[in-house]
Amino acid sequence: MGSRMGDGELLMTPGPVMLSKRVMRALCRQVCSHLSSEFAEALSEARDLLKEVFRTGQDVVIAPGSSSLGLEMAISNSVGPGDEVLVVSSGYYADRIAEMVVRHGGLPVMVEAPARRGVEVGRLKEALESHPDARALCVVHVESSTGVANPVGDIGRLARREGLLYIVDAVSSLGGMEVRADDWGIDYCVAGPQKALGAPPGLALLSVSGRALDMARSRRERPSTFYMDITGWVRATREPLKRYVTHSVLLVFALREALRIAVEEGLEKRFRRHHALAEAVRRGVRELGLEVFPEEGHEADTLTAVRVPEPLSSTRIADVMLAESGVRVARGWGPHADRILRIGHMGNIGPEHVLKALSALELALSRLGHEARGAVEEASSFLSSQDPDVLRPPDEIPI
Ligand SMILES: Cc1ncc(COP(=O)(O)O)c(C=O)c1O
Repeated sequence: MGSRMGDGELLMTPGPVMLSKRVMRALCRQVCSHLSSEFAEALSEARDLLKEVFRTGQDVVIAPGSSSLGLEMAISNSVGPGDEVLVVSSGYYADRIAEMVVRHGGLPVMVEAPARRGVEVGRLKEALESHPDARALCVVHVESSTGVANPVGDIGRLARREGLLYIVDAVSSLGGMEVRADDWGIDYCVAGPQKALGAPPGLALLSVSGRALDMARSRRERPSTFYMDITGWVRATREPLKRYVTHSVLLVFALREALRIAVEEGLEKRFRRHHALAEAVRRGVRELGLEVFPEEGHEADTLTAVRVPEPLSSTRIADVMLAESGVRVARGWGPHADRILRIGHMGNIGPEHVLKALSALELALSRLGHEARGAVEEASSFLSSQDPDVLRPPDEIPI
């Protein structure tokens, strides 16, 4: 019989992540009216905590839907027919943003980023010289298909200098890696609860700058959809008692708890925990004779993409890890799906979770004829050199 924990599976995919006990308790309660003062208090607190996490003094939005809705809200409220939009071409999730630009009548200008590194700001400058009328610039902070992190702060300086509206997909980074919406001049920063924040999926989270809001208000044409009108959502998040749509009340209670946990832990400490766990995974993977896909210095701390050499296949490795050890990881996306294995290590996890994932990987490789040992020892020895207070998960995850 299945347990409440997903059949005892250890979920180490790049999202959704496992819930910790406090978040599960917040989720498991009677529903209340979305117009009650109890819900208004929860939404207001979640909104204010989310501002801290986004590091913004401007508006944030919490809307029912997935992170893709947040991205599409950003695009649909800022891009119109014929608008050129620079998109850093980092992989699968960047391609999806370009597709959204097209659907809203815009013209994406793809700026190539090397597959294993973040984009160079110089490439964006060159693209701007050939497309001086570009209106906006979009970048995925952590490209979940490759595990590469883009230099969002540096790109922000360029966007600001050139007067471009700056849209950042921070879905796989917020809560696990530094994101500074205001300091980095981000107009729309989009995230999801189900990744490094450690909450269940089902909400779109956005920070929205005053400039983005002014631009949305001054557009000639009204947004083509009622649901994605950013001005409506900003109002609804500022004033929770004013009805916009029936909110996902239980998800907001769970999000509030997850945000409380993140802020209680302290963001800097939380980033250090993510960094140490990521470094342990990278060291373990290399010890097995495998290569981490991103070049050194370009890796995300929230997930690791591992290169899978022939004749191994990431699908087979993931299947064996699940069948033999109960650890779920993910294969890649797109044409090279079978050459990349993706291990998520974000949210409220601690050393035991990453060590279990490495042990499962080691076992799966040996079952598939790739004899290699030492990943767990290497990772443990690295982790034992770290400050135990930083490594301590902020809440318990029952497996
Ligand atoms: C970087 C990135 N952007 C966007 C998304 C889309 O998020 P959602 O599936 O919540 O719509 C994901 C999901 O994994 C992601 O990793």
